[in-house]
Amino acid sequence: PKQRTLAVIKPDAMEEHREKILEEIHANSFSVTQLKETVLSREMAEEFYKEHREKPFFSQLVEFMCRGPCMMLVLSKENAVEEWRAMMGPTDPDQAKATCPKSLRARFASDLLHNSVHGASNEQHAEEKIRFIFGDISGENMMTRS
Ligand code: CMP
Repeated sequence: PKQRTLAVIKPDAMEEHREKILEEIHANSFSVTQLKETVLSREMAEEFYKEHREKPFFSQLVEFMCRGPCMMLVLSKENAVEEWRAMMGPTDPDQAKATCPKSLRARFASDLLHNSVHGASNEQHAEEKIRFIFGDISGENMMTRS
């Protein structure tokens, strides 16, 4: 069964790396079912990352995510959540370079905060964030579970 995930190209990667990232998404057989470029407001960024509200880096993270346009994508594929996380590599680019040198973060991220891409961490978060970013349009796989 196909699964959906939410992927984000973050502001640090938009100018230099967006095209390459989109190319690789297609090369890895994801279908891009929804896509939009958007500048998050502070309120939206805070809500989007509410799971991290207590973290010491929360305000930096919100600041960073609002500083310019992001690309929001809904990716569809079998096992999309895990597949996209594998493509991104570990959150920390140093770790990514050491363990997954071909991953997007190994190649494009500059540090822990400015790490070029985001992906939902599980299926429930994926559906929640898709609804938050794109509105409540039901995806095909919300209807067909077989
Ligand atoms: P992301 O996968 O989008 O999820 C939360 C984000 O917070 C993460 O990528 C980084 O951009 C940022 N982040 C995570 N850990 C740290 C940290 N220790 N210091 C600064 N930023 C961080």
